[in-house]
Amino acid sequence: MIQLRKLPGAALNFVFTFALAMALAGCNVYVQSGTSSTPQPTPAPTDPDQRADLLIAQMTQSEMLQLVSGNLPLTAGAGPRNAAGWVPGIPGLGIPDLLYADGPAGVGDQVGPTTALPSPLANAASWDLGEAYKFGKVIGQEEAAYGINVNLGGNVNLIGREPRDGRTFETAGEDPYLAGEINAQHLLGVQDQYVIAGVKHYAFNDQETARTQANAVIDERSARESDLLAFEVSLNDSNAQMVMCAYNLVNGAYNCQNDHLLNDVLKGDMGFKGFVLSDWYGTESSVASAVGGLDQEQPYGYYFDGLWAPESLQQALANGDLPVSRLKDMVHRILRGMYAAGVFDHPAKVSPINASADAAIAQEIEEQGAVLLKNAGGQLPLNPSAVRTIAIIGSHADVGVLSGGGSAQVTPIGGSALTLPAACPAYIPLPGGAACTNASQIYDPSPPLAAIKAMAPNATVNFIDGTDTAAAAALAASSTVAIVFENDWESEGMDRVDLSFPSTQDALVAAVAAANPHTIVVLENGGAHVMPWLANVSAVLEAWYPGQKGGTAIANLLFGSVNPSGKLPITFPASVSQLPRPVIPIPSSTTAAFNVDYTIEGFDVGYKWYETQNLTPLFAFGYGLSYTTFSITNPQVTPDSSPSKGFRVTFNVTNTGTVAGAEVAQVYLGLPSGIGEPPMRLVGWSKVVLQPGAQQAVAVTVNAAASSHPLSYWSTSANGWVVAPGDYTVFVGDSSDNVKTAGTFHVGP
Ligand code: BGC
Repeated sequence: MIQLRKLPGAALNFVFTFALAMALAGCNVYVQSGTSSTPQPTPAPTDPDQRADLLIAQMTQSEMLQLVSGNLPLTAGAGPRNAAGWVPGIPGLGIPDLLYADGPAGVGDQVGPTTALPSPLANAASWDLGEAYKFGKVIGQEEAAYGINVNLGGNVNLIGREPRDGRTFETAGEDPYLAGEINAQHLLGVQDQYVIAGVKHYAFNDQETARTQANAVIDERSARESDLLAFEVSLNDSNAQMVMCAYNLVNGAYNCQNDHLLNDVLKGDMGFKGFVLSDWYGTESSVASAVGGLDQEQPYGYYFDGLWAPESLQQALANGDLPVSRLKDMVHRILRGMYAAGVFDHPAKVSPINASADAAIAQEIEEQGAVLLKNAGGQLPLNPSAVRTIAIIGSHADVGVLSGGGSAQVTPIGGSALTLPAACPAYIPLPGGAACTNASQIYDPSPPLAAIKAMAPNATVNFIDGTDTAAAAALAASSTVAIVFENDWESEGMDRVDLSFPSTQDALVAAVAAANPHTIVVLENGGAHVMPWLANVSAVLEAWYPGQKGGTAIANLLFGSVNPSGKLPITFPASVSQLPRPVIPIPSSTTAAFNVDYTIEGFDVGYKWYETQNLTPLFAFGYGLSYTTFSITNPQVTPDSSPSKGFRVTFNVTNTGTVAGAEVAQVYLGLPSGIGEPPMRLVGWSKVVLQPGAQQAVAVTVNAAASSHPLSYWSTSANGWVVAPGDYTVFVGDSSDNVKTAGTFHVGP
């Protein structure tokens, strides 16, 4: 602590402000003790909570109020440095401006141009924590280089509940453990660049249709074991300092004033010490939100400043409706978040970004995250000396690759290769009109056509845009192979009507496949799709939204310079009839709240739903092919000496094929029967890179105390995580629908 002798007003202020400035700068502070003439060194506190308290002791109430709301009024547009949010700093106290920018797939808003990363779902499909860290690092470094110090990314909503969700591409998949761990690395990567990392949208923001009116209905146990668990893993395994509360309601309470979710669960049980920020205009009250756990309103103080509310926070403090201690807590959380992330000590400095290094990472992530869904007869990889003529069809593959829209939209380095109006008819219309307005589809400037030509310099490569199905089929018929690109644009604020590719693209693929038996389909899309033509094509590569170097990565994968190793982080249903809600719930008016019943699937999200309902999806969670083959043999399970504490599973992974490749070996756990859990849950995985013929012994240790509570269920009676007595079964496999029993162990008497 800084020691101060008693001084009158102005002198005290001077000494304290000087000492504070020094302490904040990380210096030791020397202050005369009053009785001794020898200066006594007092180490500056390093603990973010102590540092926050030191500052708060110096702040006036109006300074505190300044920090809890944004400063971009409705008419202002983008803020300083083109940020989506801005909280002016307090220079006299050394508090820097906070500047907020999206997003999950690269730096968004009007900041930029910046590196368009592949979609976060592609990142999750890599099942590679190292890649996930690099993904976040690119975002953090580029935000810092643009002078931004708060990232609005880290979307960990469990869209497996609703695969038509227009934000599927922004998320990390359907499994709370996989999504949580991938997202945690992404957040660490951001925050290690001294940019505050955030997790969003808390919670159950799993459909976009009428997102401000949707009331997610869910029981406590299901909530804890699904969406909330993804947040818990993300936060506990990173040091992310911000959580964005979502637009929707949960069990009748708006998220940004949901006392139970914010105070009891997030700040209580999960121990979150940072600050809760409203989604943009997502606040519904002033005092109720502040009391309910919201710490900062964005993008302006519509409710906190009383513009849209009967009472501002200032009035509420004067009336005693809001305790001063709560305002201090809000400010404490913001300041401690800034200290913990390094925003004070390492201010963002505007500087050039390293576009070529970041593009290389974008390419690497796409190459790790693309998923080979079908490869009949070894159609792929293409042999450049064997293919004489290649037909490239559709999706503007001559100019670029599609990206996802909304606040996650990135303006790529080099600018948009093609900008098209949004495909609104594909989205669910709402009372009062369609959700889809003023949006554009942006193509990142990495054309697959040029990259494929470069891979096969001796082949004749022709492009046709696919608008004329007969012409496309004729070109395919006269070519050695046909590569059809299909795409589907997703964006926030809207959901897809169904799981089909829009327009006439499916008919195009069918016609091309009928004309050429060597038809390869490359998909550029946000999430799960049905594929009516699947049986008639020879290969399918799921490229997701592939980002800044998407064309290059796709060509490398098609020609085998890179062997695909991605695995699906979401289930691809066989039809919408398999979904818990075959029809997306919609409201009856533009204002009425309406229920979205998540008690139907409860915690059985994604593959757990398919397992419990005995449904066969089109492609299962965890599925993905390679140009080589692998075997997983000799699995053995060794429980901890106290089995309720966890276990270790060992097995051998062998590359049984002829080329090098990587396998993601997945470990699932079945909890004792009789407690209502699904047959299995993901509890671990290992991505193993192997040369042909090589074998590696793999050990996966599952610790019951991990943030994902791998052995536990949420007990409502105990109000906590409980390891049930009984028999546990460990499964190992290469996808959720291809596992074998590795062993069992018993907990309890
Ligand atoms: C989105 C958030 C985003 C915010 C700021 C909202 O519409 O839901 O994800 O961070 O806008 O752009």
